[in-house]
Amino acid sequence: MVMSINNETIRQYRDQFPVLSQSVNGKPLVYLDNAATSQKPTYVIDRITDFLNNHYATVHRGIYQLSQKSTEKCDRVRTDIKTFINAKRDEEIVFVRGTTEAINLVAHSTLHDATETDEVLVSGMEHHANIVPWQQQSKRTGCRLVVSKILDNGDIDLDDFLAKINANTKVVSVCHVSNILGTINPIEAIIKAAKEVGAYVLIDGAQAPAHFEVDVQALGCDFYCFSGHKMYGPTGIGVLYGRYDVLDQLPPYQTGGDMIETVTWDKTTYAKPPLKFEAGTPSITEIIGLGAALEFIKQVGFDLIKKQEALLLEYSTQQLSQLKSCRLIGTATHKKAINSFVLEDIHPHDVGTILDEEGVAVRVGHHCSQPLMKRFDVPATIRASYNFTNTTDDVDRLIQALNKAIEVMT
Ligand SMILES: Cc1ncc(COP(=O)(O)O)c(C=O)c1O
Repeated sequence: MVMSINNETIRQYRDQFPVLSQSVNGKPLVYLDNAATSQKPTYVIDRITDFLNNHYATVHRGIYQLSQKSTEKCDRVRTDIKTFINAKRDEEIVFVRGTTEAINLVAHSTLHDATETDEVLVSGMEHHANIVPWQQQSKRTGCRLVVSKILDNGDIDLDDFLAKINANTKVVSVCHVSNILGTINPIEAIIKAAKEVGAYVLIDGAQAPAHFEVDVQALGCDFYCFSGHKMYGPTGIGVLYGRYDVLDQLPPYQTGGDMIETVTWDKTTYAKPPLKFEAGTPSITEIIGLGAALEFIKQVGFDLIKKQEALLLEYSTQQLSQLKSCRLIGTATHKKAINSFVLEDIHPHDVGTILDEEGVAVRVGHHCSQPLMKRFDVPATIRASYNFTNTTDDVDRLIQALNKAIEVMT
């Protein structure tokens, strides 16, 4: 049994999120769609407003003070991210729009010279963002996209995964945490096996760094990426970590201003990483917002975050298991606070609508992972995804609303 944290302590944090204080249909909002995107605390909102009011200017190009200070502030965030994920150098942190752009970048750059003998290995639980870019590059180059199996409890079939790594494997790309099943994957074993055959390894960390510590040096992956908006920061900013020697040898993804060293009509030479991968004016304000989000996470601390989210997972799983006709999808022992489930004979979209009437916001649908829906033989699921601002009272409200849906629909 996970120790309970005083709901009052949690409410003090939750009160820092203006959106969460509203009512929907006359009922206090219960926000359980944190895996899609997290709400923003005042700390982040205020920092963005202050930057726009007082400090905004372009970066890298200005000789004037405002631009130099803006550049310094963005550079400081790059350093903070380096520290947050324990990268070795600031130059290993590439600012991108989000996880999707990061994976497109890596797929484009690592497979630029792929041939028909090369293979890319992904797991059967990937988000479309970690399927489609590889599929498209495979079609362009003729290399093969290989998919590993998923066990009935939502774990990766590790034996199958490891058996599929071979001398032809050029890239292994796998999520750290599944956005549907909640499974925390054994990425250490996967990275080790992939590095033994010299493959590049990318970890899609979209669902991880808001919830627990990530140490890219200890992991030993070549690439690790995540999105600011899922960790209390704004949309339009994300991070691609890449080992410096790997980034240095890869060709750029996009080209244009800021990523060059010299340009003539005949030829362009590129800047060193990370600028080589940051064509165009970056998301300056959003970088500042992401920096504030990291500070916010630090203030709360992973001890409290992990404890509260473990409690929520245990309590919600217990409560849902007792619910008539509920089938949980994703029951791995090592998982994050996400419940995906279906209610027998009721379409998830109908459940979602009734839950909304009750003021409970969940995601229903295929959650950008149609192949995984097929694997579990469902058209869609209901997904309640928690973060540390949720309480067991929120879980109770979810269960009450689900009981209402069962009553109305059966
Ligand atoms: C596991 C996973 N990968 C990738 C993505 C794509 O992230 P974004 O839409 O921020 O680019 C998501 C978003 O839900 C995700 O959950």
